[in-house]
Amino acid sequence: MSNIIIAPSILSSDFANLETELKKLEQNGADWVHIDVMDGHFVPNLTIGAPVVKALRKVTKLPLDVHLMIDNPQKYIKDFALAGSDYITFHYEAVKDNVEEVIELIKSYNIKAGISIKPKTTVNEIAKYIDKVDMVLVMTVEPGFGGQKFMNDCAEKISQIKKIIQKNLIIEVDGGINEETAKYCKALGANALVAGHYVYSMSDMKKAINSLR
Ligand code: DX5
Ligand code: ZN
Repeated sequence: MSNIIIAPSILSSDFANLETELKKLEQNGADWVHIDVMDGHFVPNLTIGAPVVKALRKVTKLPLDVHLMIDNPQKYIKDFALAGSDYITFHYEAVKDNVEEVIELIKSYNIKAGISIKPKTTVNEIAKYIDKVDMVLVMTVEPGFGGQKFMNDCAEKISQIKKIIQKNLIIEVDGGINEETAKYCKALGANALVAGHYVYSMSDMKKAINSLR
């Protein structure tokens, strides 16, 4: 079995029963829990805030992979850090002028830092920051909603990133992941996959998660 990290996104889970949903992820072999934070500005949807992350932290030992799709992430990183996040990923497009400051802020809480790019952002734009982060999150859909179709062109960024890295880096892919698109991303060099709709729409979650490995 490959050592790829599978991070189901709870965006597609039952929000009325999050504790049960986390137990289900643990029992079915998820490696991380992916938490999609949306602010209604950076993306046209509103979801989860730090108080919810804090509550989730109490009921699972799985690493919490927090994906901030918000403007001004610097304003909220402290809250998400103290809530118990293990990975905090911000969007390059939201902080263009102070990327390094944001990376340092996340690291100051002893948390792994990730940088994410939307479909229209090139690898070139973030190339100089790649050696400063622990993870790059490549979006293969426009951020905002689960259940969208995988954009093939975006996945090519995975191999572009692979070519320029000098160290161990987590290359995570998010959006439209299923058994087939997972294969494609892994072949290009991805070592972490987020999956929402696919994992939650299958009757056998364990099988769904394993099919992505
Ligand atoms: C989209 C989110 C994703 C989303 C993935 O804005 O960042 O994490 O939940 O969902 P699927 O796997 O359904 O495309
Ligand atoms: Zn996400």
